[in-house]
Amino acid sequence: MASRNGHRIGDKPVRVAVVGLGYWGPNLVRNLFELPEAEVTVACDLDQEALAKVGRRYPAVRLTTRYPDVLDDPDVEAVAIATPVSTHYELACAALRAGKHVFVEKPLAGSSAEAEDLLVRADARGLTLMPGHTFLYSPPVNIVRELIVSGELGDIYFISTSRVNLGLHQPDVSVVWDLGPHDFSILRYWLNQMPVALSALSRSCIFPGTPDVTFINLQFPSGTIVHVELAWLAPSKLRRTAVVGSRKMVVYDDTSNEPVRIFDSGVSLPDPETFGEYKLTYRTGDIVSPRIDAAEPLTLEMRDFCAAIRGGAVPRSSAALGLDVVRVIEAAALSIHCDGRPVSVGAADVEREARRRDPGRRMAAVEGTGSR
Ligand SMILES: NC(=O)c1ccc[n+]([C@@H]2O[C@H](COP(=O)([O-])OP(=O)(O)OC[C@H]3O[C@@H](n4cnc5c(N)ncnc54)[C@H](O)[C@@H]3O)[C@@H](O)[C@H]2O)c1
Repeated sequence: MASRNGHRIGDKPVRVAVVGLGYWGPNLVRNLFELPEAEVTVACDLDQEALAKVGRRYPAVRLTTRYPDVLDDPDVEAVAIATPVSTHYELACAALRAGKHVFVEKPLAGSSAEAEDLLVRADARGLTLMPGHTFLYSPPVNIVRELIVSGELGDIYFISTSRVNLGLHQPDVSVVWDLGPHDFSILRYWLNQMPVALSALSRSCIFPGTPDVTFINLQFPSGTIVHVELAWLAPSKLRRTAVVGSRKMVVYDDTSNEPVRIFDSGVSLPDPETFGEYKLTYRTGDIVSPRIDAAEPLTLEMRDFCAAIRGGAVPRSSAALGLDVVRVIEAAALSIHCDGRPVSVGAADVEREARRRDPGRRMAAVEGTGSR
C-alpha cells in the first residue's frame, strides 16, 4: 500500500551520503536527517572545518574528506551533491558508475552535453537522477501553477520576474548559472513548454568577465513573453513575479507574508458600437490572497527524491527538466556572448557542433560559463 508521499509502508529509509557541506549542503543534511524516509549515513567535504561543523551537530553521521570512500561504501544507496557547479558532472557521473542514485543541486551540470550524458547513464542503470530545483516544491509556486494550468488566469500574455539582491558574488560562475536555474525551472514547470528563443544582455560590474546583472527576454510557443531580471547588485532583495493573463493577474512575491495575490483585473476590447469606435473596458475587481501551506520546499524535495528511489516514479524535479534548464542557461550565455543577439534555445548545441567542425571559429563561449 502506498503512503501519502509515495513511500510504501515497510520501505526501509534510503541511506544517503551528502557531499559538499558549504553554504547549502547542511540544509540537505538537516532535511534528510529529519525525514523518516531517509537516513544520512555519510557526510563528505574536502574541507575539514565544514565536516567538523556537521559532525558536532550529527555525531552518528560518518565523516570523510574522500569521495571515493563514499562510492565504495555499500551502506550508501544514494548521494546528494551540493558542491560547486563545475564539479557536478564529474561527481554525479562517478556516483552513477558506482550504482548510486543521485540528487545533484541546481544546475544539473555545467553544460547540456554533460547533463545529457548523465541522463543516459542514469537511464541505462535504472537509477534515479534528480536535479535540485527546490522552487518546484514551493507551495506558492504550486498555487500559481494551479492558477495557470486550470485556466483561471486565461491566456498567459506575459510574465515579468525580478530575482535581485546585494550579493553573493560568485567569482567563477555568472549570475545566469547561479540564479537563472530558479526562474527557468519555474517557467518550465508553470508553462510546460520550452522557450523558442531568447535574448540576453548583461554586464560584469565587479569581476571582469563574470556577469553579475542580466536582463533576459524569452518567447514561448504559446505566444507568452517573459522578462527575467537577475542581479547580485541591487539596493534591496526582490523575489517578485507578475503573471498577466487575459482573465486575471497574479503577483508572486517570495519575500512577502502574502506571497500570492490574485487580482481579478483585466482589460477587454468589446465590439465597437459604431464603425471603428473602440472603447476599452478596464476591470479592477477583488484581490485575493490564498492561504499557503507552511511546508519547507526542501523537505518536500528530499521526500520526492526518496519516493522516486523506492517507488521508481519520476520526481517532479526530473532530470529531463534539469536538462531543459541547462539548455536555456546555455542559450542565455550564448546571447550574452553575442551582445544580446536573439538565439534559439538549443543554438548553443549548434554553435558547439560548428566549432567542433571548425576549431578556428570564434566560439560563443558557453561551456566554460558554468564552471565555478
Ligand atoms: N537549491 C537552492 O536553492 C540552492 C541554494 C544555494 C546553492 N545551491 C547550489 O548548491 C551547490 C553548492 O553551493 P554552495 O553555495 O553551498 O557552495 P559552497 O562553495 O558554499 O560549498 C561547496 C562545498 O563543496 C565542497 N566541495 C567542493 N568540491 C568537493 C568535492 N570534490 N568533494 C567533496 N566536497 C567538495 C567545498 O569544500 C565546499 O564546502 C551549487 O550547485 C548551488 O547552485 C542551491
